[in-house]
Amino acid sequence: MKPKVPIEVKAVYAEITAIKTDLLALGVCEGKLSAPAAQLDKKLNGAIAALIKLGDFKGKSGTTGLIYTPSKMGAVRVLLVGLGKSDKADAEVLRKAAATVSAKALELKAQTVDVYLHQAAPAADLAAAVQAITEGLYFGSYRYREYLNSDQENNQTPSSIKAFIADASRTFVSTAAQAVAAGTIYGSAQNYARTLANRPGNVISPQTLAEEAKKMARQVGLRCTVLDEKALAAKKMGGILAVGQGSANKPRLILLEYKPARAPKNAHVIGLVGKAITFDSGGISIKPGEGMHDMKYDKSGGIAVLGAMQAIARLKPKARVLGLIPAAENMPSGFAYRPGDIVTTYSGKTVEIQNTDAEGRMVLCDAIAYAGQLGCRTIVDIATLTGACVVALGQKRAGVMANDENLIEQIKTASRQTGERVWHLPCDDEYVELMKSRIADLKNVGGRWAGACTAAAFLSQFVKDARWAHVDMAGVGVWGADETMAPGSIGFGVRLLSSFVMNQ
Ligand code: BES
Ligand code: ZN
Ligand code: ZN
Repeated sequence: MKPKVPIEVKAVYAEITAIKTDLLALGVCEGKLSAPAAQLDKKLNGAIAALIKLGDFKGKSGTTGLIYTPSKMGAVRVLLVGLGKSDKADAEVLRKAAATVSAKALELKAQTVDVYLHQAAPAADLAAAVQAITEGLYFGSYRYREYLNSDQENNQTPSSIKAFIADASRTFVSTAAQAVAAGTIYGSAQNYARTLANRPGNVISPQTLAEEAKKMARQVGLRCTVLDEKALAAKKMGGILAVGQGSANKPRLILLEYKPARAPKNAHVIGLVGKAITFDSGGISIKPGEGMHDMKYDKSGGIAVLGAMQAIARLKPKARVLGLIPAAENMPSGFAYRPGDIVTTYSGKTVEIQNTDAEGRMVLCDAIAYAGQLGCRTIVDIATLTGACVVALGQKRAGVMANDENLIEQIKTASRQTGERVWHLPCDDEYVELMKSRIADLKNVGGRWAGACTAAAFLSQFVKDARWAHVDMAGVGVWGADETMAPGSIGFGVRLLSSFVMNQ
């Protein structure tokens, strides 16, 4: 089992023509060459201009052009990375371009990579640009291959990459160093989450996920408590227990706590709640076999919270933050919960089970109610909750629902910063009506329509007086991955949640 390629990013002062490196990457917008690009072009005897003139590279976003340099140059190769139209070249464009660069570095076995900045993105400020590039370098260099013993890729890729973000301005390095540090925290937390999400159900169970959370908490200085099945029973967490009872792998509720140094006694507490179904077979309402293996990713919301808590521990925001991760395996068996069961949840509210595959809301409702009990005034949950959300929004945007307009705006702000896109959907009383049962307080499925909205409306009933938002990431965690990038989890939500907390 080999670890993923480690990457290290640094900001350095350098003149573009003097850089010694395996791969020199330069962002190029459509249209006229920037001054450093023109300078480099001259040194390359017009090779960049020739590439553009031939039409082989036009600066379009997502495209690249590779130039092998004459031996007198310090850079072995020059990689032109398209940034598209200059007025649209924002932080997300840079993040994606940087990911392309590090993916290319892997492919070329480059051990050193220099990304030349030269204010390449007019539409992003310097710190945001450098942070985004750092995050992108992390993202693009990630491969999940813990269980690959002898693949070709393993033998071909470098054992590590040293990446530099370079610029020829003296003031640059001091500003950039901080942004690189932040980008490193976000980027590595995201890759950490990707590895956990990519691990299969026979490796990550509720118990092993809890152990992993404890290990991470020790490393970064968070408090971690785990409620096992006995503690869950003592607390009457009927929702989590019902979903977990069909599996030999018993459920857990993982609690992570970040406390700022010098927190005022009545400091605002933010609760981050993430669905961690370590495998969702559907239970007695079993899913079709095709694609069922992808339900190992049904823990991605919980893992987004885990990754965010790691980033938060290192970024040290002013707010107190609780992470709550209800973890269960949804399996059919003689012990499994059934359609028709009436479950008494932690809140005291009863739920008629009409479909055991609508299990996410059953674990979340207990964790959300518990977050309120623990004093969270703001609660954000994230989950691979409904196929309906994928039908509604596809693989490029997550759904976001809330009981507070202001909170929606704050999630959208974080989303604009991180490039993890969301779209606001409704979940008001009209949808709650569809979740009422005639024999219990609620039922766990609505009708045929608006499945993402009715699921959120169900969750809203377990929030007492907190501000609450729900992110349905069913479509974006894995399947939204860029085709050129590593298959598997993209670690969606880690940066979104941590940026949201940092903005508070
Ligand atoms: N984990 C699934 C949702 C899901 C579907 C995630 C596709 C990612 C991709 C969830 O537990 C589920 O099965 N939901 C049901 C709810 C229905 C029974 C009301 C669904 O969406 O079909
Ligand atoms: Zn399900
Ligand atoms: Zn599920």
